[in-house]
Amino acid sequence: MIKTKIIGPFVQLLTMDNIPLKGSVNDSQLEIIPNGGVVVCEGKIVKTGNFEQLCYEFRDQHTIIDRIDKDMVAIPGMVDPHTHICWAGSRAMDYSLRLAGKSYLEIAQSGGGIGDTVTKTRAATIAELESLLTERAIAHLNNGVTTIEVKSGYCLNTEGELKLLEVIGNVNKTIRVDLISTCLAAHIKPNDFEGKPSDYLESIVNELLPEIKKRTLSNRIDIYIDNGAFTVNEARVYLKHAKKMGFDLVIHGDQFTIGGSLLACELEALSVDHLEAVNDLEIKLLSASNVISIVLPGASLGLGCGFAPARKLLDAGCSLAIGSDWNPGSAPMGDLLLQTAILGIFEKMTMAESLAGITFRAARALDLTDRGILKERFLADLAGFPTSDYREILYNQGSLKPSAVWKKGENVRVRI
Ligand code: NIG
Ligand code: FE
Repeated sequence: MIKTKIIGPFVQLLTMDNIPLKGSVNDSQLEIIPNGGVVVCEGKIVKTGNFEQLCYEFRDQHTIIDRIDKDMVAIPGMVDPHTHICWAGSRAMDYSLRLAGKSYLEIAQSGGGIGDTVTKTRAATIAELESLLTERAIAHLNNGVTTIEVKSGYCLNTEGELKLLEVIGNVNKTIRVDLISTCLAAHIKPNDFEGKPSDYLESIVNELLPEIKKRTLSNRIDIYIDNGAFTVNEARVYLKHAKKMGFDLVIHGDQFTIGGSLLACELEALSVDHLEAVNDLEIKLLSASNVISIVLPGASLGLGCGFAPARKLLDAGCSLAIGSDWNPGSAPMGDLLLQTAILGIFEKMTMAESLAGITFRAARALDLTDRGILKERFLADLAGFPTSDYREILYNQGSLKPSAVWKKGENVRVRI
């Protein structure tokens, strides 16, 4: 007998339904069901509505009631569309040097930077990496994030990148949060690769990508375009190969130098991520495209630099999602909600825009159309906050944590 469950009552159920994928949103567009409930069957939402009415309607169907006896507001489980949480080691030294005024280059030259994490991650065992990734993913889940994109990119050789993608796949099978893997072997050219950056990219295309396809380890390919990483032209050649092989494309673009957004539009990438340096022409092209703009306030907070122009992107009609960029170098904090709240107050984003950016708009950046909205046929992923007013969530700037988190209808987190 297939069991049906009703979760509720929530003082407010914020469905995030009927909000457009692109452009600005007013808080008055938020659909709020008072005393709301969610009917779940086999991990998916069957119906949302008034809790008491749902209990009456489903009374004959061996229905279990997951009753909430405290004030709670539910939103869709959050989606973090950009992380690098599969790494070993710490870059606290980088951070202290940054606070002492050292530049990115000086830090890299004194043994820090991405190269340092590559050395430590290559040396880590599969078991160690699985445990580190699990710990970070569970921390996210407890904070209401029920889907997490995770990039490789800290081994930068065929064997090591496969190890990282295997680790992400293994952990995905053991925990109650969905991990979406992305290959970021094109993060930077590793120090021990002899040859030009284009040779390194060619070696990935020839050796690594076919193996990823064969073992179905990921269907997403990312590249970092910037000074010290790869040029737009190098990235174009690489991504065209990846696209021909059937991969979805993602670009780390416009963090310090421009060009990544234009390439993302040209190649119809799923998203372009960072955008701190994006210019008006690029914003115009992004708004006319289906590319999702992912902004990463955690990187601005970790590096001590300005935020991506989220307000401008929204006003131009772009689809804006927000990721944590959780990584050991530029974004060590890893608190998506806190970062979203801080970005919102600086960029003057409405609460609706901020919440859209970490729910259904973020899901679309991962090409997922089954989550991020509380409605029929969508996954029953919910974050429940101990309050009676949804505005308290962002108002508390990340300090109000969920007291319950449901993944596919199962309560996976209780903090009383
Ligand atoms: O998204 N910008 C490139 N890559 C990462 C930083 C990685 C690191 O410093 O370890 C980012 O910010
Ligand atoms: Fe990143």
